[in-house]
Amino acid sequence: MSGEAVRYEASEAFARRMDAEDPLRHFRDEFLFPHHHGEPVIYLVGNSLGLQPRKAKANVLEALEDWEKLGVEGHFRGSHPWMPYHELLTEQTARLVGAHPLEVVVMNTLSVNLHLMLVSFYRPAGERRKILMEAGAFPSDQYAVASQVRFHGYSPEEAVLPLSPRPGEETLRTEDILETIERHGKEIALVLLGNVNYLTGQAFDMAAITRAAHQQGCKVGFDLAHAAGNLRLSLHDDGPDFAVWCSYKYLNGGPGTLGGVFVHERHARDKQLPRFQGWWGHDKQTRFQMGPDFEPTPGAEGWQLSNPPIFQMAALRASMDIFDRATMPALRRKSELLTGYLEFLLDRLPPGFVHSITPRDPQQRGAHLSLRFSKQPQQLLEKLTAQGVLCDFRSPDIIRAAPAPLYVSFLDVYRFAGVLERHARD
Ligand SMILES: Cc1ncc(COP(=O)(O)O)c(C=O)c1O
Repeated sequence: MSGEAVRYEASEAFARRMDAEDPLRHFRDEFLFPHHHGEPVIYLVGNSLGLQPRKAKANVLEALEDWEKLGVEGHFRGSHPWMPYHELLTEQTARLVGAHPLEVVVMNTLSVNLHLMLVSFYRPAGERRKILMEAGAFPSDQYAVASQVRFHGYSPEEAVLPLSPRPGEETLRTEDILETIERHGKEIALVLLGNVNYLTGQAFDMAAITRAAHQQGCKVGFDLAHAAGNLRLSLHDDGPDFAVWCSYKYLNGGPGTLGGVFVHERHARDKQLPRFQGWWGHDKQTRFQMGPDFEPTPGAEGWQLSNPPIFQMAALRASMDIFDRATMPALRRKSELLTGYLEFLLDRLPPGFVHSITPRDPQQRGAHLSLRFSKQPQQLLEKLTAQGVLCDFRSPDIIRAAPAPLYVSFLDVYRFAGVLERHARD
């Protein structure tokens, strides 16, 4: 099963053959599927909440048992002692997002981390006060940004610079993003993009955008809620100042679980950067001297506030172990084939029935297609659910389908397309 060599066919036999040849096929067995009439569902909502890894329960139980048997001593004598527990995730997280271990930490949740990063990296001064972001960015990002600019004494109308597609187009062109950065560079304090865009599924050229923004003296941050565990990322080399993500989507960490943060190495030892402080960000060597003055731990860990929730990290470790074994390059290879197969099948549906607003270029998307249907999308969603296919709906008319490569098969994609075809012909 290798990239360009594959010639797709619209047949069940072909889908089964692809699955049989898929080197990652056994990872599907490491996840627990909800069932519909006794059969595992076709789960295309891993961009919303990933499935539970089988191992998650054992990891959480281990931590619960340590607590039961050791009480406070679990911090030092647990099967995996709690004091440095978050460090168990550091190297895996760094590999996942293409960063150095010093540059990443798992903590809090995405919106909280975005605020913490904005405190440090949105430093408006003089004419340079704007935040460049997508028009219609994920609402929490819009709220966070609006509240931060108000906190600095500006109105969102004057301080938020929205990026919109050209009239008649649905996604942004890289050249337009770069041109806006160049044209407004001196007014922009921060470029903040959601990568992959949660609604359109568009992935941005992080390296080019970061380079252009830095040339203008702007700081750059990315919301990677829809990219972590989905795209191959090279955060260190691409060079944004920070990135934040959540771990409950492609990372399968469980509902509402912890987020991740990247702070580029260039800021690792900068004590002048303003930041909100808490004891867990204090230098580990002297944290328990309980002194009055804050001395940050170098790197992303220096942004931690509180001692971390062990049970959530325990569940997340189960999934991060899987990512480490599967590896992002291999996952991404399968993902491109799988999403490409979905697109191939959609192209065969009756003309005008469905239109994907996600870019066709695999470099500009991850494992998610945003589909606009000409015929009763709500009814279609109900039909899908009734037939054991889970997708999600974004008002007014978009159905998002995400074939996450860890546990979605080619046969799943083929069957999903079959339900669409029957709806188109009904
Ligand atoms: C793109 C994006 N940003 C931010 C958030 C908010 O995440 P949280 O609720 O973990 O703060 C989400 C949640 O789905 C998201 O998709």
